[in-house]
Amino acid sequence: MTDDLALDALALLEADTTLEAAQPILALAAEYLTQTRLGEGPVSSWHSAEVIADRLSESMPRRSRPLSDVARRLSSLLLDDVNRLAHPMYIGHQVSAPLPAAVWTDALISALNQSMAVREMSPSFTPLEHQVVAWMTDLVGWDARAGGTMTSGGTEATFTALLAARSRAIPDVWTNGVGPNPPVLVCGEHAHYAVSRAAGEMGLGMHRVVIVPSHDHRLSIPALRDQLAALKQHGTKVMAVVATAGCTATGSFDDLEAVADACAEFGAPGQPLWLHVDAAHGGAALLSPAHAHRVRGLARARSVAWDPHKTLLLPLAAGLLLVRDKHDLEAAFTQKAPYLFTPNEDARAWDMGPRSFQCSRRADVLKLWVAFERYGADALAALYDRLCRMAQRLHTALQGHAEFAALHEPESNILCFAWNPPDVAMHERDALTNALRERYNRSGRGWITATTLDGRRVLRVTVMNARTGESHIAALVSGLEAEAAHLLEHHRSAPAA
Ligand SMILES: Cc1ncc(COP(=O)(O)O)c(C=O)c1O
Repeated sequence: MTDDLALDALALLEADTTLEAAQPILALAAEYLTQTRLGEGPVSSWHSAEVIADRLSESMPRRSRPLSDVARRLSSLLLDDVNRLAHPMYIGHQVSAPLPAAVWTDALISALNQSMAVREMSPSFTPLEHQVVAWMTDLVGWDARAGGTMTSGGTEATFTALLAARSRAIPDVWTNGVGPNPPVLVCGEHAHYAVSRAAGEMGLGMHRVVIVPSHDHRLSIPALRDQLAALKQHGTKVMAVVATAGCTATGSFDDLEAVADACAEFGAPGQPLWLHVDAAHGGAALLSPAHAHRVRGLARARSVAWDPHKTLLLPLAAGLLLVRDKHDLEAAFTQKAPYLFTPNEDARAWDMGPRSFQCSRRADVLKLWVAFERYGADALAALYDRLCRMAQRLHTALQGHAEFAALHEPESNILCFAWNPPDVAMHERDALTNALRERYNRSGRGWITATTLDGRRVLRVTVMNARTGESHIAALVSGLEAEAAHLLEHHRSAPAA
């Protein structure tokens, strides 16, 4: 490549630094937010991955284009087919319709590009992360010994917590590995796959994950106690017990006090079993006077995963791992990397790299801080309450419904419900439920999810958009009724297979 080309490229990137240059791309984001929030257009379109891939199958561009052309192409090639999470009828997965102030901050985070690996690479944001982590550990109810790190999300937070638990259970693990007979992890039937994945990643193997059955979609406390008693009797060491605060399928909260009691009883004297709470989804309950009781006992955990990119409505990615004793996190990674990590204890106390899974890491803490600055913790709590209220609203709307039945009381912003079409055999219901969800989502009128609960396919909503109100919940029910009627008509007129 000639130096001329590099100079031309340099001129291009200098030209792209202004707000005016950024306008075509930023305008796409602003137009998306301002238009979609009204809820007037479709929530999604429905093209297969192959159709979209065909549209994109061009060779790699070798020449530059004006940023405005790039924005136009981006819009016409891709934006029609996004799922519009800012649409109030998107009531699907646990991904937020993000807070706009945090969205704009994402561009600033990228522009500044401070890596959180070590303090000298992020002189402002390293102390900021310590401060924001301290806000969150205060909320949990811990003292100044507590610490934490931001993560890419709940999966990484739980993995990191379990690495810390591993170091406690096997002090020489960093050097000698887990050995032939490592301790077990204990978790509920409804735990997120982050737990078993961590067992795979850490070299424990799936056989070392002890699954405790659920009762009413929460960890069964008698079953947990029986399991811990049996493990103790067999002399099997427990690395950690994982409870869930806001489980993925139903948003239910385990009884954290009772789980903590069991950890105390079945640990060594004065050394409770390590309790990790996956509050990736339900952590926001801590902020809400109406919901804080659901996480009572959280302070007795030794580590907590909490995703602001879920119910605090931040854009991806913003996860948090909090630990009651910051030294636990340091012990998780006994990493030597003299080219980056200083042996100087004072400097190391600030560096996040030694206590985080990632090396280069975005300063996502800035958008969490901006969210608190812009909206305030009380308003974020009020938004969480509203999300939960809409799930409750749907629960109420389905009471006495002829075909749809709520399957649990919503404890957060998630509700699972079944479609019980009349005169349809049980063995046909799963396929029909999948078909109804697909038909409803394809219609563009809304977007929901489905899951398998207690062995059957069911419909599921997670209210992650603060704009979703009572009229949208009513529209969801009437939309499902209409699509269900069409589907049944087809089903009944189709010749038997
Ligand atoms: C309870 C729970 N834990 C962990 C996760 C994983 O979080 P992430 O996708 O941020 O890694 C989820 C995601 O849905 C979850 O519901």
